[in-house]
Amino acid sequence: MHRWASTSLISLLAAAALAAGPDAHRQAELRHLLEQDCGSCHGLTLRGGLGPALLPENLAGKPDAFLVQTILDGRPGTAMPPWRPLISETDAGWLVQRLLNGEAVR
Ligand code: HEC
Repeated sequence: MHRWASTSLISLLAAAALAAGPDAHRQAELRHLLEQDCGSCHGLTLRGGLGPALLPENLAGKPDAFLVQTILDGRPGTAMPPWRPLISETDAGWLVQRLLNGEAVR
C-alpha cells in the first residue's frame, strides 16, 4: 500500500514536470540558443533575415505541431536545419509557445 502510494506520487510529479516544460536552467539555455543560433537566420529580434520573421503575426494560424516539427526536423529544400540532436520535443513545444505568445521577442 505504501509502496503503491509513493510510486503514484512519483508518476504524478513526473507528469507535472512534463506539463511544466523544460526546467529553469534549460529555459535559459533555450533562450540563449534562440537568440544566438536561431537569431543568426531569423534575426536577433526574430524579425527576419535569411529566414522568415518568427513574430506572433507571422506564425498565427499555423498549427503548433507543424511548427514543432519544423524546428525538430527542419524544412528539406530550405535553409531551415533540423534541431532534433540539440532540442527535445518538450523544448521545441516550449519555444513554439514563446514564439506564438510573443514572449520570445525582445
Ligand atoms: C541556417 C538558417 C536557419 C537557422 C539557423 C534557423 N532557421 Fe528556422 N527557418 C529558416 C528558413 C529559411 C525557414 C523558412 C523555411 C521555408 O521556406 O518554409 C525557417 C522556418 C522556420 C519556422 C517556420 C516559420 C513559418 O512561418 O512557418 C520556424 C518556427 C523556425 N524556422 C524556427 C527556428 C528555430 C526555433 C531555430 C533555432 C532553434 C531556427 N529556426 C533556426 C532558416 C533557419
